[in-house]
Amino acid sequence: MPERTRVAVIGAGPAGLLLSHLLARHGIESVVLDSRSREQIETTVRAGVLEQGTVEVLDRTGASDRVLTAGQKHEGIEIRFGDEGHRIDFTGTVGRAVWLYPQHEVLKDLVAARLAAGQDLRFQVTARRVEDAGTDRPRVLAEDAEGDPVEIEADVVVGADGSRGVTREAVTGAHGGYFREYPFAWFGVLCEAPPSAEELIYSNSPNGFALISRRSAGVQRMYFQCDPATDTGAYTEERLWEILQSRVPGTTLREGRIFQRDVLRFRSFVAHEMRRGRVVLVGDAAHTVPPTGAKGMNLAVADVVLLTEALRALLLDRDETLFDAFPATARRRIWKAQHFSWWMTNLLHLQPGASDFDRLRQIGELRTVVESDHGRAHLAEAYTGWPLPAVR
Ligand code: PHB
Repeated sequence: MPERTRVAVIGAGPAGLLLSHLLARHGIESVVLDSRSREQIETTVRAGVLEQGTVEVLDRTGASDRVLTAGQKHEGIEIRFGDEGHRIDFTGTVGRAVWLYPQHEVLKDLVAARLAAGQDLRFQVTARRVEDAGTDRPRVLAEDAEGDPVEIEADVVVGADGSRGVTREAVTGAHGGYFREYPFAWFGVLCEAPPSAEELIYSNSPNGFALISRRSAGVQRMYFQCDPATDTGAYTEERLWEILQSRVPGTTLREGRIFQRDVLRFRSFVAHEMRRGRVVLVGDAAHTVPPTGAKGMNLAVADVVLLTEALRALLLDRDETLFDAFPATARRRIWKAQHFSWWMTNLLHLQPGASDFDRLRQIGELRTVVESDHGRAHLAEAYTGWPLPAVR
């Protein structure tokens, strides 16, 4: 006999955990499964910029009480090109800000909050298939750490299992989605060093892009544009610092031991469908953005805020309107975020094979943004995030 719950959530990332948290506030029961262990979930290094709206959702709903104390408020970023930095003042232009708070810290807070609330949260349980999407009793077929079968029947199944999860296929079938790949990637490092700057630096240099981000007083996160085929072991530490320094002409980075390296592929994806019957996709399962616009986790949170309202109406009031409209409503923001991520990426990276015309045009575009109040406000508005519906 399958187990029963109201909402079966596949994936204990930010989207899945926040959804179970928001549903519980309406008294809607859920089960959350993830193939990874709690330790894996809480230690995987991911991006770290939270839009103001994301912070408000986490703070106001009690999902994270540390985001405002342990997170760092950033009221602007620096865009560099041609040896000069240009500040984009978020607060001054749009009255909003972002917070630097790493995704795995958000996850630690959410896991702790869910477990404290008695949430049925199962680690190392791997979803294999989602069946009966077209009925009002969709099912998740999974396997626990011992290889024993787990079967959960729900009113709704939510795929929050990322770009390589099983739910995407259950919803989109062979149709897939809109896809774009970029001819570059980011080489990311974590290093033990003091911060090189107060705010994030997004640098367009003749040698390619670099992003100087931060983690804490003693640990910094930096990235530089590389070939997607680059191996993480390709460079000595000395060479990594040479590359990074050469990508931010006009400033000197403070160096220290590099203790972690990774290569991030650049892709844009939007699933053709976000819902099939009673099975829905949220977060990376439904869309992927390149990291330049810092939109990934924020977009997942926006999906979840919308879906919570839709599920509340469906499951408590038997009103299907919002649930039916969910994909179309979510897609408005998704495509805005897709555009912004694509635009920031193309604005800042060196295209392989770019001609002199292409590079000078790009500098013209950068000047159009940083030398205009409207240009800076446009970037600030998108970066800090468009308004979210209020959470109840
Ligand atoms: C990060 O700190 O990891 C980070 C910051 C901004 C981005 C992407 C990643 O756009």
